[in-house]
Formats: sequence, structure tokens, C-alpha cells
Amino acid sequence: MPRPQSLPGPLADILEDTWTSLAEGCKHARDAFHTPTVGTTRDGIAQLRTVVLRHVDRDVAELGFHTDARSLKRADLTRSPELAWHFYDRERKIQLRILGQASTYTEGDVADRAWASVTPLGRRCYGQALGPGQSTEQPNVPLPSLVDLEAADPQALARCRENFCVVRCTLTEIDWLHLRFEGHQRALFTREEAEWSGRWIAP
Ligand SMILES: Cc1cc2nc3c(=O)[nH]c(=O)nc-3n(C[C@H](O)[C@H](O)[C@H](O)COP(=O)(O)O)c2cc1C
Repeated sequence: MPRPQSLPGPLADILEDTWTSLAEGCKHARDAFHTPTVGTTRDGIAQLRTVVLRHVDRDVAELGFHTDARSLKRADLTRSPELAWHFYDRERKIQLRILGQASTYTEGDVADRAWASVTPLGRRCYGQALGPGQSTEQPNVPLPSLVDLEAADPQALARCRENFCVVRCTLTEIDWLHLRFEGHQRALFTREEAEWSGRWIAP
């Protein structure tokens, strides 16, 4: 991948390293970047929660995760597509605060391809009778049987598939912060018309 034209060397290296780290975070369950916090807004209040990073595409500046189509975060994004991401790697002492515009997919090629990548255990999570956040008398809301899903019971699978939703977020800004003994460093990258630019900012 060629370096972005508008970035001087050190900033280009940081942006390059950021995408590499995000790609690693997506691949490895133990990586610090595997479980970011994402923020939506609801009635003017920030709503934060952990998700699993499921998709990184540097070429189109996209990050993504999977969720239940009935979830409140999906409703938030339908009303207001601005999505914020927070990552922190305490070993490398790097924080990323990322902004973007999200789209949600329950049908079509994007959702079908993502669903194909979900394991039976993962699929099971989308099969609970109540949508996330709904009131219940039961502490354990039943999930479909794994036996049914592994035997590909069409009804059990169809119920899970109906509730499966892919969130894709096109990034507009990356705020990179590196805590260092010699002095912290912070850079702000912004993306306009598919081109990244970046500058140093005070940490
Ligand atoms: C380690 C971890 C990973 C999680 N991954 C996801 C995920 O990938 N997608 C998701 O919708 N919820 C995930 N959750 C649950 C969310 O944090 C949240 O509780 C749930 O989605 C309801 O959020 P909402 O009411 O804002 O929609 C995860 C929680 C934890 C602790």
C-alpha cells in the first residue's frame, strides 16, 4: 500500500502502523485492539459499550462489528450514524479515538458474507427470544440449542439470521496518542474525499 501523498514521513508511518495494529486486533482475540468501546448518542447522551472488532479495511477506511438488529445501538445509529471508537493498548501505551459514519446491514451481500463467517456458537447469540435490553423476569434468556444449529435446523438458524446485523463505519478522524516517558505524542488524522491528512497536536 503506497503512503498517503499528503502526509510527511513520521505521520505516514504512524497512520500505517495504526492500520496494521487494527488489522492485528481484528484477527487475534487476545489483542488489546480486539474489543474496542464504541459510542453512539441517544437523546444527547453518550452511550458506550464493548464490541468485538470484526472488520478492518484500510483501502476504504472501514471498521466494523456485528450486533443484534434489535439492539438499542442499532436504533441509535439509524437515527444518527455518527459512531465513536475507543481503543487502548496498555502494553504499547497507545490510545486511538476514532470517529466515523456508520451504516447497518441486515440483508444483502455484506450481511450474508459476514453471517457466513460466524461460528455456530456465535450464531446462537442472535437467537434469543427477547431483543437486547428488553425487560424479563428470567435472569437467563434462553438461546437456541447448539445441537439444532450444528445440525443446521433451518428454523433455528433462520431466527438467528433474522436478528443478525453488520455495522460498518467509514472513518473520518483518528486521534492517535502515544504515552512516552520522554514526552507524550499525539497526532490527528482526518479523511476527506478518500485522502488522509495529518498533523501533530499537543497531547
Ligand atoms: C467482551 C465483550 C464483547 C462484546 N461484543 C459485542 C459485539 O461484538 N456486539 C454487540 O452488539 N455487543 C457486544 N457486547 C455486548 C455489548 O457491550 C452491550 O452490552 C450489548 O450489545 C447491548 O448494547 P446496546 O444496548 O447499547 O445495544 C460485548 C460485550 C463484551 C463484554
